[in-house]
Amino acid sequence: MTKKNKTPDQLRSARWFAPDDLRAFGHRSRAMQMGYAPEEWRDRPVIAIINTWSDAQPCHMHFKSRVDDVKRGVLMAGGFPLELPALSLSESLLKPTTMLYRNMLAMDAEELLRGHPVDGVVLMGGCDKTTPGLLLGATSMNLPAIYLPAGPMLRGNWKGRTLGSGSDAWKYWDERRAGKISDRDWVDMEAGIARSYGTCMTMGTASTMTAIAEAIGMTLPGASSIPAADANHIRMSSEAGRRIVEMVWEDLTPQKIQTRKAFENAITVAMAMGCSTNAIIHLIAQARRAGQDISLDDFEKASRKVPVIANVRPSGDLYLMEDFFYAGGLPGLMNRIKPHLHLDCMTVSGRTLGENIDGAEVHNDDVIRTVDNPIYKEGALAVLKGNLAPDGCVIKPSACDPRFLKHTGPALVFDDYPSMKKAVDDPDLDVTADHVLILRNAGPQGGPGMPEWGMLPIPTKLVKQGVRDMVRLSDARMSGTSYGACILHVSPESYIGGPLALVRNGDRITLDVAARTINLDVPEAELARRRAEWKQPEQRFERGYGWMFSKHIKQANEGCDFDFLETGFGKPVGEPSIY
Ligand code: FES
Repeated sequence: MTKKNKTPDQLRSARWFAPDDLRAFGHRSRAMQMGYAPEEWRDRPVIAIINTWSDAQPCHMHFKSRVDDVKRGVLMAGGFPLELPALSLSESLLKPTTMLYRNMLAMDAEELLRGHPVDGVVLMGGCDKTTPGLLLGATSMNLPAIYLPAGPMLRGNWKGRTLGSGSDAWKYWDERRAGKISDRDWVDMEAGIARSYGTCMTMGTASTMTAIAEAIGMTLPGASSIPAADANHIRMSSEAGRRIVEMVWEDLTPQKIQTRKAFENAITVAMAMGCSTNAIIHLIAQARRAGQDISLDDFEKASRKVPVIANVRPSGDLYLMEDFFYAGGLPGLMNRIKPHLHLDCMTVSGRTLGENIDGAEVHNDDVIRTVDNPIYKEGALAVLKGNLAPDGCVIKPSACDPRFLKHTGPALVFDDYPSMKKAVDDPDLDVTADHVLILRNAGPQGGPGMPEWGMLPIPTKLVKQGVRDMVRLSDARMSGTSYGACILHVSPESYIGGPLALVRNGDRITLDVAARTINLDVPEAELARRRAEWKQPEQRFERGYGWMFSKHIKQANEGCDFDFLETGFGKPVGEPSIY
């Protein structure tokens, strides 16, 4: 029996539909124009279903029908569903980078909810930026909300070999550059690496962010691990529809779920999952929207104590998300790291996290390891600071060659992606495996939008010599499916004059992951001289959304939100007038 903390006349949607006035007459008559009878909406919670389906979004193909499953649940529970389409942000097709548009989706979601007669929302996303985009908007709007993850796609397959999204594309591309993969095999791989709807099935940004949404308490228990093509996913969708109606009556809002402890749980889970480096940026932004002060230091603390126990590529070397689901999924993993979690946090299920994971089992100790037998003894990410990155940068030590965790080498610097791309194929490029490859002007403003360029390609000359990893450094991000000794998110970024802008070819750079340091071995007087000579590269946008983006985007260590969207900026926006 649902606990009702609201009466029907207290529903937000009643402002649109209930009054005996001209405006409400218009709202009711237009609902009837769509074929609905008053009995279908009167005294019922109106549930928005924000759907990021589009013909340009391969990972959300199933949302076209899944939305009907959500509606089925809403109707069963006595609600009135309204599907509202939103920006679909395909990671694979949208250029120059979806990160340029994450905040646009956040604004889209927030304003869709604000302007329409809705009482609660099911958020349908999964492909990388859609999860944070939708959650940022819903957090700011603070109506009862459930996140519905698209679910990972099935394992890729090529000649009976398992292929993982992204990770195997990078791996076999290097083999192809080394002349070891034929044209025919390459085409067959294209056909086999993404063979069902759903999100990337490695522990990339999509799987990381949906797991984080579950750990915060914003998905139904276990929802983030269910493969998109599994019938469990259909049932979970209709359950989300049923449950959101109850949440409206209970008035269970994101603010009551997204506490500081909930974000600490998310960081803990991210570490144990071997998460994507992108998690840091999105979680900081989301926490700030929720009014919680989460910073790089919280990630650093967690990384020292929480081991990586999800043996999923790219941190692991064998398994994918489908295996993770069969092994017990996120509830199983969270049960294994229980001592590190705040079990009393409330979740959308109406139960605490501890109640949700109570009794969750692990069915395969190799896929979800015990904490005594981790795949990496510390957490997935390490935050480095030093004169090259005063506000921090990030490395994923669990996914790089251990010999680079302490390294000194000469810099080889590129100012933009095209010149880097051209140079790496030059057979006469003056480079060794000890060099530190640098790409700059690729940060939030410089990219623009901080593209996933951080896994710079190993120069072809070295690939042919058998080199498969080397230290790479940038103010860009990298795909969560990428791997290697890539140091990312250098803050402040070079485009605005951060120290990365001052590096020159041949300068020595030293990184020490155990000590969490990264430094440019150049005297301060010389750096001051170079700083005085430095000129900012040309402006990226002079009009439109890009111009607004450039003016308001924050740095990576602050979550890359727009300054005017953060909690505390200006007076809160009230409910729309209905006249
Ligand atoms: Fe959509 Fe990877 S491209 S999740």
